[in-house]
Amino acid sequence: MRIFLAGATGVIGIRLVPLLVGAGHTVAGMTRSPAKASSLDQLGAHPVVCDVFDTPALTEAVVGFGPEMVMHQLTDLPDRVDELGAFAPRNDRIRLEGTESLLAAAAAAGARRFLAQSIAWRPPGRGEALDRFEAMVLDAGGVVLRYGQLYGPGTYYESDLPPPPRIHVDEAARATVPLLDHPTGIVVLTDEGASSAAPAAPPRAGRSPPPATWIT
Ligand SMILES: NC(=O)c1ccc[n+]([C@@H]2O[C@H](COP(=O)([O-])OP(=O)(O)OC[C@H]3O[C@@H](n4cnc5c(N)ncnc54)[C@H](OP(=O)(O)O)[C@@H]3O)[C@@H](O)[C@H]2O)c1
Repeated sequence: MRIFLAGATGVIGIRLVPLLVGAGHTVAGMTRSPAKASSLDQLGAHPVVCDVFDTPALTEAVVGFGPEMVMHQLTDLPDRVDELGAFAPRNDRIRLEGTESLLAAAAAAGARRFLAQSIAWRPPGRGEALDRFEAMVLDAGGVVLRYGQLYGPGTYYESDLPPPPRIHVDEAARATVPLLDHPTGIVVLTDEGASSAAPAAPPRAGRSPPPATWIT
């Protein structure tokens, strides 16, 4: 499958690139940084240097690659956990404006599949933006992946465990690969495995929410 991976240099994205390439997929990896582009090249991806908020460049890049899937692993989070609150507006912006632009670019490219990173818990005061973001993806027929709190190398929890729901970052990447063909809906990924969840609000297209059953 041809996969356009936005957020290819994030903690999950950088682990996904070699897994996807190793599974035989052709991957375009997006970053804003020319320096990180060469790392993506070395991992076997086609690097794309682009800012998600530069809509014309994004559309040109996605249409030019011609993906079957657009995978959204974008966040705008700080390196230090104590700065999370200050970054909330930026992260909401990438989840709302960034997602809207990516969905439009995917549609312009005729991509059949869209899969987006979300989270398996609701930080106080952030639920509305998260619900709107997830509804946008579901309305477009996409898949929402709600990861538990990440721990492991490169995360906020390198040497201790966050409270549940949680998932090791290596496992988060590994568990994403079998979900490329998943039907539209919400999948929760934690150390307990993958399960489906109902959306906060019914998708506008009127699809039924998936049953809340464990799938692995
Ligand atoms: N579920 C969870 O617990 C969870 C989920 C995600 C992250 N985190 C934590 O957050 C911290 C930071 O993680 P991270 O480095 O993955 O996050 P990040 O710095 O927020 O970056 C994530 C990805 O988004 C891309 N990106 C951000 N803004 C962009 C823009 N305007 N245009 C295009 N691409 C953009 C980055 O690309 P470039 O910078 O290369 O352009 C990168 O590939 C870590 O401690 C991680 O564990 C936790």
